[in-house]
Amino acid sequence: MTRSQSVVRYLVGTYKSPTSMLAPLWRVVPLNATTEQVLGLDLAEQRAYLENLWQFNHHPKQARSAHHDDLYGHSKGIGFLRRFNQLPCTVESRRARADLLRELNPAASRILILGDDDLLAVELAQRGFRHVTVADCDERLLERIRDETKDLATPPQIIAADFRAGFVWDGHADVIFLDPPYSVSGAEAFLQLAIAHAAPKSRIYLMINPFVVGRPFSQVITRAVHAGYHLAKQRPSFNGYPIGWFESTILRLAWRYFLGVQNAPKAPEQLYFCSDCFEFQRG
Ligand SMILES: C[S@@+](CC[C@H](N)C(=O)[O-])C[C@H]1O[C@@H](n2cnc3c(N)ncnc32)[C@H](O)[C@@H]1O
Repeated sequence: MTRSQSVVRYLVGTYKSPTSMLAPLWRVVPLNATTEQVLGLDLAEQRAYLENLWQFNHHPKQARSAHHDDLYGHSKGIGFLRRFNQLPCTVESRRARADLLRELNPAASRILILGDDDLLAVELAQRGFRHVTVADCDERLLERIRDETKDLATPPQIIAADFRAGFVWDGHADVIFLDPPYSVSGAEAFLQLAIAHAAPKSRIYLMINPFVVGRPFSQVITRAVHAGYHLAKQRPSFNGYPIGWFESTILRLAWRYFLGVQNAPKAPEQLYFCSDCFEFQRG
């Protein structure tokens, strides 16, 4: 290990150290929950996460749009500081999620989406799904969904709620999509609401990068199993999220300092974060 690698690893390691003099400096930076989570991982977990992103960016399996379509016209801001952890996925990822429902009847199936900066509710409403309910804490995002679907015959039902305080909805859904913050507490809070509003024979699709959560991710699976679900399928790297120049620079530096990959094949210009799709079924 080079001297500079050791320095960078030491600095990152101080983030979660209760005794480090540098920790209070870290705390001043208003990082989003996912970034905090990554900084709190141990070195082996951080390496696994960076390797996952390396594989995703160097061995792309699906076509990816470097730019968003019209639907994603709004600004993303600097990712590490972004509001509510929002980072819209690629157009291909959004469509692939909607494709998961291909065999369902759009006139009858009840769909619930918890957290929707990826605008899946718009995609599904455009495909003719008549019973879509979408909930999120971001009023601006919900306004955008309302605006994009106002001319459709059956726009989604929209609920503004901060899930940490629960949300009021007396319906039940056949399929529930979850896009939680990447932490055990974030995933469990979203999953708990999904379970409470799931029809007896239901499916839950959880979009999350398990490498960001680290070893405790098994707790999330266990919670679903205790509620009567089984993990029917895990689709690795199902979702791609185009990232901006600032995050890309940090990612390239992290690959270099944590994986020592400076002599490896050059990374593509546009970089992506990624997440898996976990499909839980009950009944
Ligand atoms: C959490 S973000 C997706 C996570 C992201 N893929 C990442 O990189 O961490 C998905 C949506 O959940 C919403 N969200 C986040 N926290 C929430 C909360 N406590 N209650 C309701 N919605 C929330 C955000 O506004 C956003 O639109």
